[in-house]
Amino acid sequence: MPVDTRVAASEDAARLLLAWYDAHARALPWRTPPGDPTPPDPYRVWLSEIMLQQTTVAAVGPYFAAFTKRWPSVAALAAADEAELMAAWAGLGYYARARNLIACARAVVDQHGGRFPDTEAGLRTLPGLGAYTAAAVAAIAFGRRAVVVDANVERVTTRLFALTEPLPAARPRIRALADTITPDDRAGDFAQAMMDLGSSICTTRRPRCLLCPLAADCLARAEGDPELYPVKPAKKAKPHRRGLAYWLEVEGAVLLVRRPDKGLLGGMRALPGGGWGEIAEAAPPAQATWRPIGTVEHVFTHFSLSLDVMAADLPTRPATDVPDSLWWPVADIEQAGLPTLYARAAALGRAFTREVLPL
Ligand code: ADE
Repeated sequence: MPVDTRVAASEDAARLLLAWYDAHARALPWRTPPGDPTPPDPYRVWLSEIMLQQTTVAAVGPYFAAFTKRWPSVAALAAADEAELMAAWAGLGYYARARNLIACARAVVDQHGGRFPDTEAGLRTLPGLGAYTAAAVAAIAFGRRAVVVDANVERVTTRLFALTEPLPAARPRIRALADTITPDDRAGDFAQAMMDLGSSICTTRRPRCLLCPLAADCLARAEGDPELYPVKPAKKAKPHRRGLAYWLEVEGAVLLVRRPDKGLLGGMRALPGGGWGEIAEAAPPAQATWRPIGTVEHVFTHFSLSLDVMAADLPTRPATDVPDSLWWPVADIEQAGLPTLYARAAALGRAFTREVLPL
């Protein structure tokens, strides 16, 4: 049997999860408790879902209380002063949400007679309602069967089915798998049960599988390491570059440069040199007998670098046309403020001229 039909075939997941939710649902101010026949207020559901995008339940709590006190209905919110609303949102972040909030409230009032559309497709037409939010509001506020997929649901689903395809390419597959376990009834409770399971039991690290109502069906648990899911995209290999650095020592002083303000290590002191391409190519700062003395390996955010270090000594300071250069006493090199890459190159240079070319 193909792996991903096993749970669906058991048809147990929704029933087990809903039974767990009946006993363990978090009491949250925008929710009606499981089994409560009172229909939820779509305004409160919508407002909470917008606030909860990229924001934790704990952070949202006080904002939700303040907003619903000040603007208790979608009509009140539609009539709100935009600057006041933005000020009330301050601290929640992602301010486009606040701008969409008022636009959406006005659309509901102006185009829908003050009532939220009660289908996923209808909700999608409102400002600020993407696939996730439209599905969540349709399911939670209106009991519509909708497949609601947030990061918690992604984690639960990829583990349940041991989905090896990495994110984000796996998203359509995850949605299709979540669809197979979404029940026709209680879709809102089911969605919120998945969210609660994901945030309290099927956590990113150290999931509490012993407490999980889906443990017996979970393929990731059967494999032994649920934390492997969801599979993250492979990190892109960093490009590799080569560069050259020159340690030129004259009478106890070494030639340093100040790097251009723009670019990597901008404005920092460094050894003369350069290259930093596929091959190391940079003219030496002066005519001398240059000897290769080692290579410094360094990893930057976007590439790795092998910096070949060359050393030479001269009896007198040569004329040099290296821009922004200065002679620095070797004994005080620690005070030059060299970034790690060049501090390591300098350590090679220093050891070389001390040991191999005693002055
Ligand atoms: N995160 C987003 N929506 C949520 C909800 N309705 N309950 C709990 N966490 C959520």
